Amino acid sequence: MTEELQTIVDLIRYGASRFNAAGLTFGHSYDNAIDEATQLTLHALHLPHDLSPVYGQSRVTLAEKEDVLGLFLRRIEERIPAAYLTGEAWFAGLSFKSDRRALVPRSPIAELILSGFEPWLGGREVRRALDLCTGSGCIAIAMAHHNPDWHVDGVDLSDEALSLAAENEARLEVRNTRFLKSDLFEGLQGEHYDLIVTNPPYVTNDETDALPREYGYEPEMGLRAGDDGLDLVLKILRDAPLHLTEDGLLICEVGESEQHLIKLLPELPLLWVEFQVGQMGVFVVERRDLVAHNARIAELAAARESVPAATSGVAGSPASDLF
Ligand SMILES: C[S@@+](CC[C@H](N)C(=O)[O-])C[C@H]1O[C@@H](n2cnc3c(N)ncnc32)[C@H](O)[C@@H]1O
Repeated sequence: MTEELQTIVDLIRYGASRFNAAGLTFGHSYDNAIDEATQLTLHALHLPHDLSPVYGQSRVTLAEKEDVLGLFLRRIEERIPAAYLTGEAWFAGLSFKSDRRALVPRSPIAELILSGFEPWLGGREVRRALDLCTGSGCIAIAMAHHNPDWHVDGVDLSDEALSLAAENEARLEVRNTRFLKSDLFEGLQGEHYDLIVTNPPYVTNDETDALPREYGYEPEMGLRAGDDGLDLVLKILRDAPLHLTEDGLLICEVGESEQHLIKLLPELPLLWVEFQVGQMGVFVVERRDLVAHNARIAELAAARESVPAATSGVAGSPASDLF
């Protein structure tokens, strides 16, 4: 059946057709069948991802065709995300190693990194930045690469994610990053940052249970975040002021949990970022606004802690000790 396939373009077109017919879910790095088929084809042929289209009409050998079709088959039958099949994902113009130790890098925050976080930073100076919930290290490393004068910390609770982040740090030869194991801010006592960026887990329990098979290859602790997806986000909002410099800024991705957050904290002034493709559930908030609303945030966060609110709530929360 595949005898007619002779060129690189033939293979890409064929793969895209099979992917669409099989009803694959896209969005882990590329959002459509053609791009995924291109990614897998070029990987199997050991060709660069930005290969000039003039090579599209090059004929492939039988062995090469078998390699490409083998990858297509695994993508279709096992539903493995393409980035885990190739072991690579592009983020903010950089090539990251990607495997099952951490989510495939795909946050829209890449666009903010490439625009120097303007207009949000408004020209304010950043000396220290934090990537909370760093996973593969993509946000921390991209921030460090594009801002060589910043000192960037990356934090995660998963040893596996941190081992992948360390490999990416070496792969991309950044020298201004430091990776630490910490349960959110717990291991960062006394550390202060001008900018905190975070893409924490924010998928609701119901949504996590219903995710397409592709997501099953990713660590669940990178996705699941309670009934409304805000279990970790509320703790981050509560404790971020303790770790931001006075003029500091928090940038946080909450995806589709945006509506839940607006309902819970209607008074908190969150600025929702407009990306090239529209809104993507990423907000910017000033430290001073988090401080002003800390009592309400701490109350909501305490309601989700496993220990009773009387010992961990507003009165006992680290942030309220400060204000
Ligand atoms: C949505 S992933 C984001 C990874 C990466 N920043 C990115 O954009 O690809 C969330 C990450 O949060 C980590 N995480 C989950 N719970 C955490 C916690 N309590 N403290 C620190 N990190 C946590 C997970 O291990 C996962 O790597």
